[in-house]
Amino acid sequence: MSKKESFGSKFGIIAAAAGSAIGLGNIYRFPCEAGANGGGAFFIVYLGIVLLMGLPLMVSEFVIGRRSGKNPVGAFKALAPASKSWSGIGYMGVFCSFLILAFYCTVAGWTIDSLGKSIINYYHGLDKDTILADFNGLMNETWQPILSEGIFIFITAFVIIKGVKQGIEKYSKILMPVLFGILIVLAIKSLTLPKAAEGIGFFLKPDFSKITGKVLINALGQAFFSLSLGMGVLITYGSYIAKNDNLTSTAFAVCVSDTLIAILAGIVIFPAAFTFGIQPEAGNELAFVTLPMLFDKMAGGYFFCLIFFLLLTIAALTSSISLLEAPVLFLTEELHLSRKKATIYSAIATFVLCVISSESLHDGTPLKIFGFSVFSALDMISSNFLMTIGGLLTILFIGWKMKKSDFMDEYTNGGTISMGLRKIMYFIIRFIAPVAITIILITQFMK
Ligand code: PFF
Repeated sequence: MSKKESFGSKFGIIAAAAGSAIGLGNIYRFPCEAGANGGGAFFIVYLGIVLLMGLPLMVSEFVIGRRSGKNPVGAFKALAPASKSWSGIGYMGVFCSFLILAFYCTVAGWTIDSLGKSIINYYHGLDKDTILADFNGLMNETWQPILSEGIFIFITAFVIIKGVKQGIEKYSKILMPVLFGILIVLAIKSLTLPKAAEGIGFFLKPDFSKITGKVLINALGQAFFSLSLGMGVLITYGSYIAKNDNLTSTAFAVCVSDTLIAILAGIVIFPAAFTFGIQPEAGNELAFVTLPMLFDKMAGGYFFCLIFFLLLTIAALTSSISLLEAPVLFLTEELHLSRKKATIYSAIATFVLCVISSESLHDGTPLKIFGFSVFSALDMISSNFLMTIGGLLTILFIGWKMKKSDFMDEYTNGGTISMGLRKIMYFIIRFIAPVAITIILITQFMK
């Protein structure tokens, strides 16, 4: 166990885990979800979920990963050797990360495509309808999305083959702060727009009458997706965390930075949407159609458009790295493949599913599951079901299956750090978080 490679520094772990958390989910999905679910009301619910369910679940995943030093499947086997069924959570997680990766790379492919277009100043002078038609045209193309998805998966696999210290940690340490800096610049720019106050009001001012069951489940799904929870990715990263690192402060730093980036993304997008008369519920259009248009109308628009899509690509990359690492570690540890072979096989399988996912967006395609495109079905199955159920089972494992003394031992680094909050944290893990997640899951079915 101790021979295993681990992250080289505290900042390295935070950067890598925050890199996993911060991605298309924050910059593209969070504003879409907030826009579609009432703005400020969604935001308040989201914050509560991050604090009461996200943070304890993240701590739980880190504890499982570091205690066992293994991939999600091996971790449950090692911690509950007598009851094999718990390792089902691990299998579900590895399977879920593969599904997410496939549709994630589809969106990342659009991002790469938009990055290419912004480099050649393609958007200059185009109106909204033209850019929208262009975006819809891209979905109906065959080779262009395949090419950008292939490039994206290739870069992800390249970093993974390099390993933890040379790959994930090295790149995340550079990319994460760059991302943060770029977003701050964009947020400042957006706040100077004429309807900034209206946009910010919509985004941050809660109207509690808008909180419904649908808002709750969407906020829960978004929080788990955004924090990379419920599927073993952070168990995998936990297995690389050094024994003397403080798990609570690491998890706290990741939750805070992830939430901060989502807030910054909202501050960039909503003032712009209001200023240019774009519906906050616009969905995909918010990032891929209307923002290029917005940038084109701004002074220095070429530059802002370029850095925005560069930022989206960077954010997507650090997340996809973590998604691919989960199946790779599983294949190396459980099936004893070399890291290189495990990466190549997983990348090829991802590429195949990703191509099916993007081809399923063609008009009139037969690639449908229960009437949904494969792309939407992958998103729904993984985010709405597998992740939330995986998260619930993980937290139940810590609260009810793992011995309290083992949890406390790992959580307090063998009693070497005094953790005033440990009793409250354990209480939340045992009672509050599982009950709250269950209630939200049930509300979803009562819709
Ligand atoms: N958290 C990532 C995002 O917000 O874009 C997506 C993601 C990465 C989800 C890793 C799940 C995961 F395990």
